[in-house]
Amino acid sequence: MLKSILLGLWLTATGALATTVTLSDTRCEYRENPVGVDTPAPRLSWVINAATRGTRQTAWQILVASNPAALAKNQGDWWDSGQVNSDQSIQVVYGGKSLVAGQNYFWKVRIWNQANQVSDWSQPARWTMGLLNAADWQAKWIGFSTPTNSVVTLPKSGSYPLQPAPFFRKTFTVGKAFKRATAFASALGAYELHLNGQPVDTDALSPGWTDFNRRVHYFSYDVTAQLQRGDNVLGAILGDGWFASYLAFTGKRHYYGGDCRLRVQLQIEYQDGTRETIGSDDSWKATTGPIREADLLMGCVYDARAELPGWDKTGFDDRNWQPAVVDDTVKANLVAHPGEPIRRGEEISALKITEPKPGVYIFDLGQNMVGWARLLAKGNAGQQIVVRHAEMLNPDGTIYTANLRAAKATDTYYLAGQSQRAYEPAFTFHGFRYVEVTGLNYRPKLADVTGIVLHSDLPRTGWFECSEPLVNQLALNSLWGQKGNFLDVPTDCPQRNERAGWTGDAQVFMKTACFNLAAPAFYTKWLDDLCEDSQRADGAFGDVAPSLKIVGFGNTGWSDAGPICNWRMFEMYGDTRVLRRHYPALTRHMAFLANTSKDFVRGTGAYGDWLRLAGPQKSDAIGTAYYAYTAQVMAKIATALGETADAEKFHKLANDIRAGFVKNYLKADGRILDSKNETGQTFYALAFGLDLVPDDLKTKIAEQFVAALHQQDDHIATGFLGTPFILFALQKAGHPELAYKLVLNKTYPSWLQQVLWGSTTMWERWDGWTPTKGFQSPGMNSFNHYWLGCVSEWLFTQAAGLDTDGPGFAHIVIRPEIVKSENGFSWVKAKYNSIHGLITSQWKLDSDQFRLNVTIPGNCTATVYLPAAALADVTEGGKPATTAEGVKFLRLENGRAVFEIGSGQYEFVARRIPRGEHSK
Ligand code: BGC
Repeated sequence: MLKSILLGLWLTATGALATTVTLSDTRCEYRENPVGVDTPAPRLSWVINAATRGTRQTAWQILVASNPAALAKNQGDWWDSGQVNSDQSIQVVYGGKSLVAGQNYFWKVRIWNQANQVSDWSQPARWTMGLLNAADWQAKWIGFSTPTNSVVTLPKSGSYPLQPAPFFRKTFTVGKAFKRATAFASALGAYELHLNGQPVDTDALSPGWTDFNRRVHYFSYDVTAQLQRGDNVLGAILGDGWFASYLAFTGKRHYYGGDCRLRVQLQIEYQDGTRETIGSDDSWKATTGPIREADLLMGCVYDARAELPGWDKTGFDDRNWQPAVVDDTVKANLVAHPGEPIRRGEEISALKITEPKPGVYIFDLGQNMVGWARLLAKGNAGQQIVVRHAEMLNPDGTIYTANLRAAKATDTYYLAGQSQRAYEPAFTFHGFRYVEVTGLNYRPKLADVTGIVLHSDLPRTGWFECSEPLVNQLALNSLWGQKGNFLDVPTDCPQRNERAGWTGDAQVFMKTACFNLAAPAFYTKWLDDLCEDSQRADGAFGDVAPSLKIVGFGNTGWSDAGPICNWRMFEMYGDTRVLRRHYPALTRHMAFLANTSKDFVRGTGAYGDWLRLAGPQKSDAIGTAYYAYTAQVMAKIATALGETADAEKFHKLANDIRAGFVKNYLKADGRILDSKNETGQTFYALAFGLDLVPDDLKTKIAEQFVAALHQQDDHIATGFLGTPFILFALQKAGHPELAYKLVLNKTYPSWLQQVLWGSTTMWERWDGWTPTKGFQSPGMNSFNHYWLGCVSEWLFTQAAGLDTDGPGFAHIVIRPEIVKSENGFSWVKAKYNSIHGLITSQWKLDSDQFRLNVTIPGNCTATVYLPAAALADVTEGGKPATTAEGVKFLRLENGRAVFEIGSGQYEFVARRIPRGEHSK
């Protein structure tokens, strides 16, 4: 705190600031105006936009009111914090009166800067509490059938039993003027909630996927605008979702046991202050309709002849509907979903139609995507149209579906028999670029198929562009990989019968994920799946979360997702609450590692350097390096939590493991050999990447690292555990030019070779398809697996040079790694909407001149590194950097001039860049 005030003071000299400050992005629990918050003390954050350089916050005041009028009069009847001296503008914990279930809270904030000038209040924001206790739920669990508790196993052949999705409706009357209506909904299954003829949201597959036996989410909706005086109808469709569809590779439906159930509660607040609750119960009516089958992996069978027009509106005749079945046996632990639901996103037009066989039409969307296809079709009533999905084509132009394994990914429509109209499946999703349509009596037009993209609805936060167009496509592929694998759970792949929350994949990609999309609430949810719901009694975390009982536990790089992903929450968002919540689980995990290692040496367990092309997959050198990583991360977590004794303990552990690594595997000639005398690129990637290399051996080990690359003709050969580290490691070994080379290689194996082969997402394997060998084994050949997309972390933090130093980007580092343009990039433009606000780093390299444009958000500071031999070679805004407003020279360091800046926009130019810095 003192440090930050002092820092602020040297920036104040420039004059008045407060008039130029606005506050925006007011968030509660990471979301803007969230509905359904169930933490008793939510955390608030805001972004400080300041035209003046060096703006810092020295104090804040928050008002929280029960109604907008009170807030407008500056009356915080629920909380008036008063002026709190603090530079904290994120993760500020609500400190007012106890919050009441279902209530709206209106809030605003103002801040003081370092000159003690106060800003205007932020625009009013709002959050709505969820249902906080089991007793707040008056609605009952309802269904369409009586409880059976059946788990169904996929038959080896023949048809598989699926059930129709029931429709529910409830008519009720609103007899007086109302102020507000909030709906709360959950399902053992997946629901779509309607009110008066319209869905209440564009969400799909809500409430998502958890281990339903441990935790079930609900979502909350403000439906005030959809409610009306007089008669109303609440409607819901109940699909199988993750609860009852064939799940991953378990081969089972109803994996969690039991039948699909629905729970809906509508709360109406009337103008006269009274309240009414309409809850699901046996007065609701139910039937089945057009959705004959709907399964996540298999697809949907939709019979348009059985549609129920107007089923969700008043005036519909439901006399033939049956009463819903109330199921009092459901014992679900219902909690508010901490993040956004999965929603329909962009729509993708088809680019091309082919007809590889008569009557078989294949639409190419030009983008491997996840969601479903909307089909415009016409035909006779009951005419069957079959829509299949694939990521790739066979050489004969037909769709390649072998890699989908047991997932049928097929939607079947029985047409309504009208003129042309749109058809969409329900309660399913597919991973595909190609859509095959059969059963039409005519040749369709391009516009007849549109891709509807589906993913957890997270705003984009990161943009990366550079002088190499293929790298720009690669960065987009990484983003598309994330979208397709972010359906409530971070999954490995979205197309085959797997789609599971593989923990290793999650941890190698998480920092990239947090650059690409606003992911903190998404991971808050998943860290419960991982740390609270999937841990084994001995402390090992599962290979997948939500847990599936057919995979292992405690494997190196997978189980370690526990500490690593929690750490990322602190690094990217300054979140200590999530660390505190899972700390007991994380320390149990450390006990597991201690109990299953010997003399600080660990093996890799089941997967090791999964999908590597050369070098050992399983090795004690890899396992031990990862053990050091986990201990290092735990030391940082314990420090962040103020657990000093633990911090020291983990720090010592990390040092002991490092010493063991050095003793056991580092040879005097610089080679790294494991106990079987094997070596590979991943060993060096981990040794440098995790700072396991002693200074005296650094040069020799770096030489061996380079030799290991040369052995592969300077091509990458690493798998899951080496790839995330190798580029960073090459820089640390003094070879940024080789890091660039691996990123820019256009021959196999490389990232850009896949782009040149037409990839639009990240492939599971370096050799998923090659011109000489064709497709890899279909048993494991996804074309949408985000793990290799972790290269974007390097693009953002090294090529653009934009990273956080400490938690949540309060202090930022701008340190682009440059090499000669012909060996690297000649320009880069990156933007990141951090939790503190927008950061940009844009640079351009012209012969020996380097221009860097930087934006730093209010209340943040940054250390900026420019290639320069002398301070005199650097200007900012056209003036010598030493005289530029708000720019403080710190030092010259290894061919770089280092400056400290505060918020604002800056243009640095460095002339006469030292040869050594960019000549490699
Ligand atoms: C998944 C991976 C996962 C792995 C474990 C595969 O089937 O698709 O991404 O991490 O198994 O090695």
